[in-house]
Amino acid sequence: MVVDNNAGLADKIQSLKRERRAVILAHNYQLGEVQDIADFVGDSLELSQIAAESKAEVIIFCGVRFMAETASILCPDKKVLLPEASAGCPMADMATAKEMRRKKKELPQAVVVCYVNSTAEVKAESDICCTSANAVEVARSLDNEQVIFVPDRFLGHYVSTKVKKQFFLWNGFCPTHVRISPEDIMRLKNEYPEAKVVVHPECRPEVISLADEALSTGGMCRYARRDDVEQMVVGTEIGMLYRLKKENPQKRFILASEQAICPDMKLITLEKVLHSLETMSPEVRVPDDIRRRAKVAVDRMLEVV
Ligand code: 13P
Ligand code: SF4
Repeated sequence: MVVDNNAGLADKIQSLKRERRAVILAHNYQLGEVQDIADFVGDSLELSQIAAESKAEVIIFCGVRFMAETASILCPDKKVLLPEASAGCPMADMATAKEMRRKKKELPQAVVVCYVNSTAEVKAESDICCTSANAVEVARSLDNEQVIFVPDRFLGHYVSTKVKKQFFLWNGFCPTHVRISPEDIMRLKNEYPEAKVVVHPECRPEVISLADEALSTGGMCRYARRDDVEQMVVGTEIGMLYRLKKENPQKRFILASEQAICPDMKLITLEKVLHSLETMSPEVRVPDDIRRRAKVAVDRMLEVV
């Protein structure tokens, strides 16, 4: 049976994890069985903070490449493993360092804010990093009046509605969140008039404007615990529902769109986590010259939050 098989794999993972002095971090979109064997489950900001403070020698990152790269940027003396080497983020690949250098030349007065969903090379070209949990605070903390925001044009647009600066938005977007439509939200608002509507700031502006809140995945977990929330329409990736339901079994969570699946987040399985621990691969290591420059942007962000 699958459950027995998972239990057997989970036991092997836990004992090998201790032997390897490893910590397992999982993003909120990971498969339920992967979340269950993790030491920490969280959003991008929480996981990078945990990686930065961890005493473990090995980090098994159950997420996508930019998350493992961020852990490598923050912890160069740790081995960072991504159990499926091909797990990437299409949005992160929508900006390159070369294009960024060109944009910076065009706008020399502007400060460059990069969303953490970006490659290490793009972080190295940026002044400060942000996540969906702190993007507004990061933008507010800057003295410059002009901001180049890369690569998510929707998160950038959301920040521009909260912070009075001139924003130059990159043309990137998340192919998963863009599938959530205003019609989905309107239909669910009619069907569940009592429900709070919470969406991720990677959603389109027309979707965000219909929601009660736009929050990071970690913010959604905290919001769901509030006493005044009994039903919640969840405008983000499907994996989020597992943790919300597990932590709040008496509440009702309704996925905004069945189309909101990130295929890359689903590539990591228990078998692959075990294989990573056995072979100590695939490793993600950011080359030193890029790492040092990228770390300036990530450290600057961690000072703001
Ligand atoms: P969070 O930092 O809110 O978890 O978002 C990460 C992500 O990739 C959203 O698509
Ligand atoms: Fe990237 Fe979107 Fe997947 Fe998040 S959900 S990892 S932004 S493709």
